[in-house]
Amino acid sequence: MQGLKAELLRGLWYVAAPGKSVRRGKMLPKTLMGEPVLIGRDNDGKVFALRDNCPHRGIPLRYGKFDGETVQCCYHGWKFDRTGTCVEVPSLREEQKIEFGRIKCGAYDCIEQQGLIWIYFPKDGETPAEGGQPEPARMPHFADDVAPTLGIMLPFPCSTDHAAFGLMDPTHAAFVHTSWWFKKDATKLRPKEKHFEPSELGWRMVRHKLPPQNLVYKLLGKDVETEISYKLPGLRIEEVHGDKHAVVGLTAITPVTEEDTEVYQFFWTTPGWVPFVRPLAQHLMTVFLDQDRRVVVQQREGLMHQPRLMLINDADTQARWWMRVKDEWKGAQSESRPFANPLVPRTLRWRS
Ligand code: FES
Ligand SMILES: [Fe+2]
Repeated sequence: MQGLKAELLRGLWYVAAPGKSVRRGKMLPKTLMGEPVLIGRDNDGKVFALRDNCPHRGIPLRYGKFDGETVQCCYHGWKFDRTGTCVEVPSLREEQKIEFGRIKCGAYDCIEQQGLIWIYFPKDGETPAEGGQPEPARMPHFADDVAPTLGIMLPFPCSTDHAAFGLMDPTHAAFVHTSWWFKKDATKLRPKEKHFEPSELGWRMVRHKLPPQNLVYKLLGKDVETEISYKLPGLRIEEVHGDKHAVVGLTAITPVTEEDTEVYQFFWTTPGWVPFVRPLAQHLMTVFLDQDRRVVVQQREGLMHQPRLMLINDADTQARWWMRVKDEWKGAQSESRPFANPLVPRTLRWRS
């Protein structure tokens, strides 16, 4: 059962940072998947990601300098290009030859798409296409060069499993998300019934219409529909659209280590659809996500004592699906076969 740590899934694309957090000619050091990663943006505006260890004496390259083309280590000044290959060793004299192509700090496949920087963490040095996920997930309705209008990240002191359970947990809202502006009353739980079906690398709540009387939905136009999908490596994509506008929300969990996780929340909106002023919306998103974060901080106190945990039907069925989809991903990798989704269509019922 899930405790403080979770095994990290490899061979997948992870959200590494919002694109706007790395300016031209700048570097952003991070720990992701337990590895030291140095993200940068070169003079041409292209992003790249290096393993943040100098192959000479191991010092993190983040302490060095980046001139928009090469990263220079702070210790002996070796320079590395954006592919992680050494291109200069200042101590060499003319007669001293060294094969630069063999000196590498290592680089990751890194893509900027829809305003997010994604990094691929291979299992055994394979390319993303060989690993079974050639490209990062794409948000529907929006082109590749459209960045989110809103975005936040909070560090969660929990494993990816507990962070993922939070994403797909339909029954905690009445107890955890209890602000004045999002009032859910735990004494008035209502029966819910939702239909689910398997989808690429996970499952989705079958597309359905939303109540036309809701004011926020009315702003999107007529015939407002929604679809929510959950997929590896811990993405929840919620799409709501009417005949005039569309909104897509992404919650992404990115492992920092086996027991620490970054939780991102982004929204893409069609132009002109501004339901709130941005700072207010950003504030409310932070309040909401912080309520989830505070729960996992408290949960951590309990998990220290390695209690036995439970998953119940149907409230936690999606948490079970998460574990099954994860197991299948690892099984497919170890047997070198394609991922075969183990889920079947199901209707889930609960009170919330
Ligand atoms: S440790 Fe990086 S150049 Fe020596
Ligand atoms: Fe929540």
